Amino acid sequence: MNIFEARMDELYNQIEHHARLYYEKDEPEISDFEYDALVRELAALERDHPEFSRPDFLTHKVGGSASNLFTPVEHAVPMLSLDNVFDNQELADFFGKLDRENENDSYVCEMKIDGIAVSLLYENGEFVQGATRGDGRVGEDVTENLREIDSIPKKLRIDSRLEIRGEVLMTLESFRNLNQIREENGEKVFANPRNAAGGNLRKASRNVDPKSRRGLDFFAYYLVDAEKFGVKTQSDALKFMADLGLPVQAAYQVCENLSEVGEFISNWHEKRFELDYVTDGVVIKLNDLTQWNAIGATSHAPRWAVAFKYPPEEAITKILEINISIGRTGVLTPVAILEPVNLAGTIVKRAGLHNADEISRKDIRVNDTVRIRKAAEIIPEVVAVEKASRTGQEVIFEMPKRCPACNSEIVRLPDEVAYRCPNRASCPAQLRETIKYFASRDGMNIKGIGSRLSVQLVESGLVKILSDIYELKVDDISRFSRMGEKLARKIISEIEQSKTRPVSSLIAAIGIRHIGKTVAELLVDRFANLEALMNADESEIANIPGMGEVRARSVRAFFQDSENVRLIRRFEELGVNTGNSESGSQTQAQLFGKIFVFTGTLSSFTREEAAERVKNLGAKVSSSVSSKTDYVVAGEKAGSKLSRAESLGVKILSESEFLALLASYNIA
Ligand code: IVH
Repeated sequence: MNIFEARMDELYNQIEHHARLYYEKDEPEISDFEYDALVRELAALERDHPEFSRPDFLTHKVGGSASNLFTPVEHAVPMLSLDNVFDNQELADFFGKLDRENENDSYVCEMKIDGIAVSLLYENGEFVQGATRGDGRVGEDVTENLREIDSIPKKLRIDSRLEIRGEVLMTLESFRNLNQIREENGEKVFANPRNAAGGNLRKASRNVDPKSRRGLDFFAYYLVDAEKFGVKTQSDALKFMADLGLPVQAAYQVCENLSEVGEFISNWHEKRFELDYVTDGVVIKLNDLTQWNAIGATSHAPRWAVAFKYPPEEAITKILEINISIGRTGVLTPVAILEPVNLAGTIVKRAGLHNADEISRKDIRVNDTVRIRKAAEIIPEVVAVEKASRTGQEVIFEMPKRCPACNSEIVRLPDEVAYRCPNRASCPAQLRETIKYFASRDGMNIKGIGSRLSVQLVESGLVKILSDIYELKVDDISRFSRMGEKLARKIISEIEQSKTRPVSSLIAAIGIRHIGKTVAELLVDRFANLEALMNADESEIANIPGMGEVRARSVRAFFQDSENVRLIRRFEELGVNTGNSESGSQTQAQLFGKIFVFTGTLSSFTREEAAERVKNLGAKVSSSVSSKTDYVVAGEKAGSKLSRAESLGVKILSESEFLALLASYNIA
């Protein structure tokens, strides 16, 4: 393999990896800017070495792909992406290529919203279907989720069929609130508002409290088949949509020539940080849309529009110290404490340093002057050290030899980048993180046990192992600062309620490596209770589809540790559902394997809570009705699922019938 082929190979792999993290998991590891740089490097190599190029690679198609979580929707008019330009020269080249002889041409400049593109369809003035872009031709049906976004009109005063496109986004305010709550609940925070919006939008309705969808917002920017409505320019299309009541960005302008476009771009460079949503550039569109068809598009982007991307925001500041934060599994993460500096509209005080290798690779020292960067990401990173500014006062950072929380000797496992504190049993920092994780939403979902209470529980010595949580009394915690009796009662009742969570929640919550919520559900499908799982041998576990050897080994290792077995026994004694007890297995048998579908709004609880109750009884919950469905629970304003259930003859329960069913199992 020659060096070009090798580099291209590497780029194909990297891009595929990062695209997957971005589109499928909403959890990118690198910034958009870095991703774009990889894509551009690849494009240049492909141009020079077409013999090594892969024509069907994802960069030659429209981004993303539809997942199998939602019903596919074919776009009658493909949803294209946009080509990017990164500086004035590239922008001028774009205008050059457009080769507009016509002096009268004008352009519309709009802010480029960093969100999730969707298409909305209205029939007889009713919002009937909404879809994501997917691969541009086939997207995902997210109609129900989009209905929960307040700013998307459900009715328009227009009779003809109307399709529009726009962007779903999360406002900065909602984003900060959401992340604060997630942090307090011990959940992973979203890297940026776009990922938060994507995660939220693509989450199946049954897993989301509709209230939480309120943080989402929408702007329309494209009218499909505009000619049908006598609309001839993009600026008129924006007005047309706004007049119908669709939200349209205020920040747009008609420009007569390239220099006016340039002015718009530079005017908004800083001003965009005053907006309550993230924009990463300016979209420039030829205003006269009667020319669009003639100009046409490439396989993935129109030729009549382009996106100018702003460079990532950078700032220069000083590293005051490097702190260590300790994670649940004992991993030490260095964090730079910075001289506060204004960056992209916020004051930045910390930057993530990832790990010791990164620090030595970039030669980052305490007291160094550094360039930090924040693209769309919320946690900034150190780009490089300004070596010219060194004074000799810089101090080389060394990872501590002993754990700052428990003084245990730090270890580094072979083949691992990470340094760890090995004191799993009693390091207070690990214990605190373990408690947060246990109580988090994907675990036992105990609201109220977040960062602060976890620290208090550890420092007071009240919780030494996880099961101690179930021995807490109101008086124990009411004396903590900022607590009080009322809140303490609420938290203790939350803890009590968590005892009836499905076994899969408990399995996910105890922090077995590589075992998250979804995998825990697979384990429970195979082993109905913890006892059976504890006795299972490695190959039995590994053979479950979706499980594999690494996970199987990790489960075995966990239960081979007698401390962990003791913990499970203690949970049992304290009445936490392990699926083992007599009564547990009896009730499970009665609804075991039954499939429920919830539709409409329930008044006694959210759909998510209702789903959890039946899962506790061994039932499954599905989002769509089929002949396999056993019960459809129909709340207020139940829609198409109810009619489908009727036509298939599936048993339908009203809310009160459903409550009666739960009561018969004694857990309503
Ligand atoms: S127009 C046919 N206008 O950027 C192209 N797109 O990187 C229609 N985007 O897929 C797109 N703000 O999701 C347009 N004001 C705006 C936009 C915008 C954000 C998104 C859109 C597009 C992506 C391309």
